[in-house]
Amino acid sequence: MAGKPEVRIEEVRAALRRANHLYYVLDSPEISDIEYDDLMRELIAIETEHPELVVDDSPTQRVGAPLDSAFAPVTHLERMFSLDNVESEEELETWQSRLARMLEREPSGYVCEQKIDGLAVSLTYQEGRLVRAATRGDGQVGEDITANVRTIDSVPLRLQAGAPSLMEVRGEIYMPVAVFAALNERQADLGEKPYVNPRNTAAGSVRQKDPAKTAQRSLSIWLYQLGQVSGGPTFASHWESLQWMAELGLRVNPASRRISDLAGVEAYVTETQEGRHANDYEIDGIVVKVDDLGEQDEVGYTAKSPRWAVAYKLPPEEKTTTLEEIRINVGRTGAVTPYAVLDPVFVGGVTVTNATLHNEGELHRKDLRPGDTVIVRRAGDVIPEVVGPVLTKRPKGLAKWHMPAMCPFCGNPIVLTEGQAKARCTGGFACPSRLREYLFHFASRGAMDIEGLGYQTVDMLLSEGVITDPADIFTLDPDVLLGFEGWGEISVNNLLEAISGVKDRPLTRLITALGIDHVGGTVARVLAAEFRSLPALMAADVEAITALSGIGPEIAGSVVAWSEDEDNRQLVERLGEAGVRLLDPEPEPQEEGAATLAGMSFVVTGTLEGYKRNEAKGQLERLGGKVTGSVSGKTAALIAGASPGSKLARAESLGVPVLDEAGFVRLLAEGPAAIS
Ligand code: IVH
Repeated sequence: MAGKPEVRIEEVRAALRRANHLYYVLDSPEISDIEYDDLMRELIAIETEHPELVVDDSPTQRVGAPLDSAFAPVTHLERMFSLDNVESEEELETWQSRLARMLEREPSGYVCEQKIDGLAVSLTYQEGRLVRAATRGDGQVGEDITANVRTIDSVPLRLQAGAPSLMEVRGEIYMPVAVFAALNERQADLGEKPYVNPRNTAAGSVRQKDPAKTAQRSLSIWLYQLGQVSGGPTFASHWESLQWMAELGLRVNPASRRISDLAGVEAYVTETQEGRHANDYEIDGIVVKVDDLGEQDEVGYTAKSPRWAVAYKLPPEEKTTTLEEIRINVGRTGAVTPYAVLDPVFVGGVTVTNATLHNEGELHRKDLRPGDTVIVRRAGDVIPEVVGPVLTKRPKGLAKWHMPAMCPFCGNPIVLTEGQAKARCTGGFACPSRLREYLFHFASRGAMDIEGLGYQTVDMLLSEGVITDPADIFTLDPDVLLGFEGWGEISVNNLLEAISGVKDRPLTRLITALGIDHVGGTVARVLAAEFRSLPALMAADVEAITALSGIGPEIAGSVVAWSEDEDNRQLVERLGEAGVRLLDPEPEPQEEGAATLAGMSFVVTGTLEGYKRNEAKGQLERLGGKVTGSVSGKTAALIAGASPGSKLARAESLGVPVLDEAGFVRLLAEGPAAIS
């Protein structure tokens, strides 16, 4: 350690900042990991000895203390807009013609960028130092995620020389595909559920209360848009502003290109689409921006998005793989579903190994045969789909697949009733596959919510033969459980207490748990409110049930058929004997004056960061709102999370108001006033 500490410390910091910039931003390191580690160690040593010299943008200060409260709201300096989509060259040309009309000439040039599939973030630098990072939120107000964003190595805590007094930049935080894959491998090793896709995982990582957890996720960032600047240079074009951002040390995507005409833009789209897999991050489109800032000003903004930019959506990614086998599942209602066992293939950001084939008719319509090379597609959050076979690759003599006559799990006949798409196993609860799915559903969060009764425990109970009917879970013998490997007094007591604790659940939950076809939480709530007891519901006829609002003949028929089934009648009787409450004593509690959303119907789509779909639904229903599955002219608002899919387009075409997550939160707090 040479010289005065206050001099040396700055030398070491400068060397580390340079190394970070070369490694994380420019991807061209000049020093080895060992040299880097030595510098870092030296810095830590000086800072330990001279705590008075620690500053918060020191390279040692990326991981701070855990937050003890929620992420604070942040009002953006400038609104964060979203982008309109185009999906074809034609639509791109329409966009351009509109601009040409407004400008009375064609735009003089464009910048094409990859549309990164991550989460939007705004970074604010004051005097070159990172002072704030915020999520997009509703575009006006986001959440303060500074502590977590500081842990992202490619986000400079301090900019290079020449930074203005204030600047705000926008970009996208993402999880590299390789990091995502490694994370999921670890999940698999631990026997945990895999994460769905890099974007959601990145979003979850950024919303950790503990920055140390975010730091472990190896997130990265691309910056693509300059926001407010004071005390800095002015630019004539977006392209120049990007160059300047890069000079200041911000990570700007080198795949961005300045292009003079639409033909060039179209070539960029094609090229990007073809090279899509070469990137270590996911893209879901191309952003085309008018380059000239004067022209941008001239065309301006709509209420939601700039007119000077569009997102050219790429079609969902498709890959081919081998359909190794077709197997079947028996679900909780006894319905038999064939599914594809695939040679694992990474498509649309996840590794796909299975895909449902829905029913035998569908499978033959696509002419899928075990052994085929098949096209697999996955768009955004959507479940993977087998599109069809590649017939030119079909080996000679490949046999068609047929639904087995007997259930492979219980040996009872599988039957297909005329007019129904799905075949059914006739084994009832004697079918272990059906029983397993039934129990799992019965105990799940949206139904009876029995803590500790997940797949693992259910499987153990089934394989030990202590359960042959769903009601058996209420009469489990602790002495028998204690005999099983890995089960001690505490775990047995916890499980039995959890089970016994749900006997008093409201009727809505019980009805949901019974797994009647077409009866989810919403319908169950209507039925419970009307009939107030399970025996009364089971005595009702189709007419009485269809009289209820929102319930059609299909649901009513399903309820009646379920009630008439002897197995189900016995099940209900045994549940009653076991002490499960079959009726609601009081009207379900409705807070006085709380039904602010009464008479309004909503649709929820896409992924919300703070709510599971069920929770969002529950919140709306708690306030008297109704939640339906499809958007119509009567829908009061569409709640659209990330990757909303076709419902968003439908809402827009019908003029139905759309609320993002922040809007949803306001709706819960303020009622209908939040929809404007
Ligand atoms: S520009 C006013 N450029 O896409 C311009 N956005 O629907 C605003 N995105 O919220 C955005 N890559 O999260 C822009 N190269 C890129 C982008 C990009 C991804 C995201 C961003 C934005 C959304 C627009």
